[in-house]
This record gives sequence, C-alpha cells and structure tokens, in this order.
Amino acid sequence: MSDLDRVFEQAKTVTDRFRLSGRSALVVGGTKGLGQAMALGLAAAGADVCVSGRGPAGLTETAEAINRLGRKGTSFAADVTEEKKVEELMSFMEETYGGIDILVNSQGIVHLQSSTEFDTAAWQRVMDVNLKSIMLTCKYAGRYMLEKKRGKIINISSVRGFQGRAEDLAYAPSKGAVNQITRSLAIEWGPKGVNVNGIAPVFTLTAINKKILSNPEMKNWVLGRIPMKRLGELEDIMGPVIFLASDASDFVNGHILPVDGGWLGA
Ligand SMILES: NC(=O)c1ccc[n+]([C@@H]2O[C@H](COP(=O)([O-])OP(=O)(O)OC[C@H]3O[C@@H](n4cnc5c(N)ncnc54)[C@H](OP(=O)(O)O)[C@@H]3O)[C@@H](O)[C@H]2O)c1
Repeated sequence: MSDLDRVFEQAKTVTDRFRLSGRSALVVGGTKGLGQAMALGLAAAGADVCVSGRGPAGLTETAEAINRLGRKGTSFAADVTEEKKVEELMSFMEETYGGIDILVNSQGIVHLQSSTEFDTAAWQRVMDVNLKSIMLTCKYAGRYMLEKKRGKIINISSVRGFQGRAEDLAYAPSKGAVNQITRSLAIEWGPKGVNVNGIAPVFTLTAINKKILSNPEMKNWVLGRIPMKRLGELEDIMGPVIFLASDASDFVNGHILPVDGGWLGA
C-alpha cells in the first residue's frame, strides 16, 4: 500500500479520533472557571466526567450540567492537598466509572505580595494546592492508567510557568514546577501508554484573578500585552483539552500547550 493510500484510509476516520465516548474523566478543580469549562467540553466530546473541588459551590450544579449533556456526571468533594482524600477520590472513580482514563488538574490559587513581606504560610499553601496536589493525583491516577496501559493526563499550568513576575514568589515558581513534573511524568509513563501534557492559559476572567483584573490599569496592560487584544474566554480551553485527552494527540507527550492569544510568542 502506498503512503497516499494509507493516509487516505486513515483520513476517512480521523475526526473519530477526537471523540471521547466510553472514556471516564476526572477534572480536579472542575467546579468553577476553566476547570468547569473543560469538564463540560470533555462531556460534550463523549466522556463521562466527575468534577472535584473542596466545594460545596459548583459540585452538584456542574455534575447536573454534565448529565444534561447526556453523560454520566458526578462530583466528589475533596481537598486534594490531602493524600487520604486523593486516595478516596480515586476509589470513587473506580467504584463509579471502573477507573480513570483522563485526569485534568485544574486546581490552583494565587498569592501576590511584596517579596520582602511574603507570607510564608501563603507560600506553602500555593505550593500545596498548585504543585503537591498534582504529584498526589498523578501518583494515584497513574496506578490505574499504567495497569490499563492507557491514559491521558493534562496539567493546567500558566504563561507564568514560563515567566517570572514581580511580587510572585509562589505562583510562577509553582507553575514552572508544574511544567517540569509534567515533563518528568511524560518521560516515565509515555512509553507505557500514558501521555502527560499541560496547558498554559493566559488571563481569563475567573475567580482566581478577579482582583488583579478589577484594576483598570492592570487590565489595560494585560490587553495591550496579548497580541490578539482580548482576554481568554472560558470556551478557548475546551478544544485544546479535548485534543489532549483524545487519541488524536497520541504522539504528543510532555508538551505544554499555550492557550494565550500569542502572549508567550510576543
Ligand atoms: N484564569 C486565569 O486567568 C488563569 C490563567 C493561567 C492559568 N490559570 C490556571 O488555571 C487553573 C484554573 O483556574 P481558574 O481561573 O479556573 O480558577 P478558579 O475559578 O478559582 O477555580 C479553581 C478551582 O480549583 C479548586 N480548588 C482550589 N483549591 C483546591 C483544593 N485545595 N483542592 C481541590 N480543589 C481546589 C476550586 O474549587 P474549591 O474552591 O471549591 O476548592 C475551583 O474548582 C488554575 O490552575 C490556574 O492557576 C488560570
């Protein structure tokens, strides 16, 4: 068979490779903001989805919205900085969905403060929520995925994972480490059938940055800095996460995909 004949045959079904039917997904931090948008996007592409957060806000409503999309939507309240809770969350996935095919880590918090006054407890909290939790969820989800020799993990980083910023001793460093944990896992697990990638969004109006973007001067600076001259919208992240969760991205591994209107290229 010639190359043309082979790709011709494959092209006929290539869009099926973006479908997530029969897959189970867990979106940690899926109760609000970008995580909620990704949870609904994955469900619309065919996955059954559990969302998690400390709650109670967003847990039931998001699961119900997933059900309205025709998928099995559930929620599980857990602070994923606690190892015991992460273990319980994975047991819930096993009992409810028979395991986990897709893990999205969208949990995150920010703390900005003058570096000479930086609050040590706040620094630790940012590291626990943004980084330690990813080590924990990957550790436990990875066990299921490696056994099945199949899985997709998507860690939500930030453009700050590539850049420093004044008064940011915690968030940007934590996201830089998210990029590195993603690459390390990709090297270890990629050969075993589990792809590990990241997404780096730019400013999108959600609870996490309401305070920063409510400052008109800051908002204007951000808009001027983004080549596409607009903030991110929640739906901007849906296509990228579906792609990374699907068979269409089977040879993409250890990549951090900016969804940033060109910010990092400027
Ligand atoms: N929005 C942006 O402009 C932007 C830009 C770049 C990167 N990001 C990244 O994108 C991700 C999502 O941000 P977002 O804007 O969607 O924020 P968000 O609206 O504040 O949502 C954060 C989510 O994380 C959950 N969460 C926080 N602490 C948790 C914990 N200890 N255990 C479990 N869940 C926890 C929250 O639920 P509970 O509060 O109920 O726990 C919520 O579901 C974050 O990693 C963020 O750093 C966002």
